[in-house]
Amino acid sequence: MKITLKVWRQKNKDTKGDFKTYEHNHVSTDMSFLEMLDVLNEELTKKNEEPIAFDHDCREGICGTCSLYINGHPHGPLQTTACQLHMRSFKDGETITIEPWRARSFPVIKDLIVDRTAFERIQQAGGYVSVNTGGVPDANAIAIAKNIAEEAFDAAACIGCGACVAACKNASAMLFVSAKVSQLALLPQGQVERKTRVEKMVAQMDAEGFGSCTNTYACEAECPKGIKVTNIARMNREYFGAMLSSYQIESGGGE
Ligand code: SF4
Ligand code: FES
Repeated sequence: MKITLKVWRQKNKDTKGDFKTYEHNHVSTDMSFLEMLDVLNEELTKKNEEPIAFDHDCREGICGTCSLYINGHPHGPLQTTACQLHMRSFKDGETITIEPWRARSFPVIKDLIVDRTAFERIQQAGGYVSVNTGGVPDANAIAIAKNIAEEAFDAAACIGCGACVAACKNASAMLFVSAKVSQLALLPQGQVERKTRVEKMVAQMDAEGFGSCTNTYACEAECPKGIKVTNIARMNREYFGAMLSSYQIESGGGE
């Protein structure tokens, strides 16, 4: 295959970037999208040109770092991660545009790499359970209904890639945060910090400058792990429940 790539190049977060065009004539349909970029980078290196910086780690659809905005879609035309996308999804002779995630809370570090540590700070604010470590408990010592276990597992599938933010016209992080809140709110182990968790994570999400949800569902449509917007509804219920009980405690009774 021969393809034309229009790639966002940006030296660092303080400089303006622009698109640079590359003709790539050594593309196999069996290559993953990242392998295609690897080959281009080898060619650039041989020509003493600076290779294109892009983020990746597992290349197995697990770590969520391959944050590429391809032809107007986070992770490209399929509902999968960019590392799991193959060149057979494109046509010979096609022009492919590659950009970084676009969101104020994900500033560009270089070329296609953005700073997603805002997600980590949200997780650190409350996305954990406090446990008293001791002996290993017996398997199934805490019985969890199958439907609850499955819902929690579906929410836990979120890999923190940020495609939901990149897809949203408001750069909202609600799908990500709601997946993390839901995963723990559904399980017995998450009950101790249930109320403070949602309050702290939502406060951190707001502090990071993510936008509000206006129910466009673009996040669900683009999420490579099929996280559902029903998690956002659950997070809203969790949040208002937590706020109400804080108010009742402060006002001394709840009437
Ligand atoms: S909700 Fe989906 S799109 Fe958003 S961070 Fe998690 S896996 Fe990525
Ligand atoms: S490189 Fe890990 S999900 Fe793509």
